[in-house]
Amino acid sequence: MSQVHTPQPSTPVTIITGASRGLGLGLAAQLLERGHRVLTLQRTPHTGLAAQAERLGRRLEQWSVDLTEPTQAAARLKAWVQALSRTQVASLHLINNAALLVEPGPLAAADPGAVSAALRTSLEAPLLLTGAFLAASADLTVTRKVLNISSGLGRFAMAGSAVYCAAKAGMDHFSRALALEEAERPHGARIVSLAPGVIDTDMQVQLRGADPARFSSQGRFAGLKAQGQLDSADAAAAKVLACLDAEDFGQKVIADVRDLAGT
Ligand SMILES: NC(=O)c1ccc[n+]([C@@H]2O[C@H](COP(=O)([O-])OP(=O)(O)OC[C@H]3O[C@@H](n4cnc5c(N)ncnc54)[C@H](OP(=O)(O)O)[C@@H]3O)[C@@H](O)[C@H]2O)c1
Repeated sequence: MSQVHTPQPSTPVTIITGASRGLGLGLAAQLLERGHRVLTLQRTPHTGLAAQAERLGRRLEQWSVDLTEPTQAAARLKAWVQALSRTQVASLHLINNAALLVEPGPLAAADPGAVSAALRTSLEAPLLLTGAFLAASADLTVTRKVLNISSGLGRFAMAGSAVYCAAKAGMDHFSRALALEEAERPHGARIVSLAPGVIDTDMQVQLRGADPARFSSQGRFAGLKAQGQLDSADAAAAKVLACLDAEDFGQKVIADVRDLAGT
């Protein structure tokens, strides 16, 4: 008797870094709600996210990886994308969201190990993961998108944030170069480097908790919180996903949620 195989439906697949809290957690939760298969990479997986995926009947994998050592994570990601069943992928996305701050203050006073860890997590990891993602999915003809979570500070300088400014400016500029590379390919991926607005997360706690004697913008961040001007992580995630969903995603490589229609 011949066996009948029920084909698995194809679903959007999204890989996201830094989904244990903050914006990344909001993004992962909303992607699961929308029916995506989700892979997350961070040091500490989130138990609530696993429970949500279970409840919704979605596929979720959470890797415990330290992106200060990104080479191994990139190799593992490459193998994972290569192993995806080609008939079950409706579209494929990589969201480089994880970032690590050095304690705000002058570069001259910064701990060299912390500077290196921040750059590796916030710039080197996105480059290596993106390279792995593109190489492993080059045979796919479905839509592929890379969404880099940048910052206004990649575009405007701020004293006491040299490392973060460098990482985000680097992210913006590698996105520009990559968009040109992918435009030369028949089914090239689309790339956006997006500033997500100002969000009420641990990163903001670090900024307004900094020593004002070392970080002259500390008062500005304290003021934003006091005046209720921060987006919740969920609200910011909805704006970021509106960008990911947009028909014209990638037309403008350097973007800001505050400039997008309907956000
Ligand atoms: N918050 C804002 O106002 C704001 C403004 C502009 C841009 N952004 C950008 O938005 C993104 C998310 O920021 P957020 O505010 O949500 O940050 P957050 O609350 O500090 O969360 C950072 C995330 O990155 C992960 N991460 C940090 N170091 C890591 C490492 N070494 N290896 C693996 N994962 C690591 C953390 O997970 P683990 O600790 O579990 O590893 C966490 O999930 C960042 O790219 C940030 O630059 C934020």
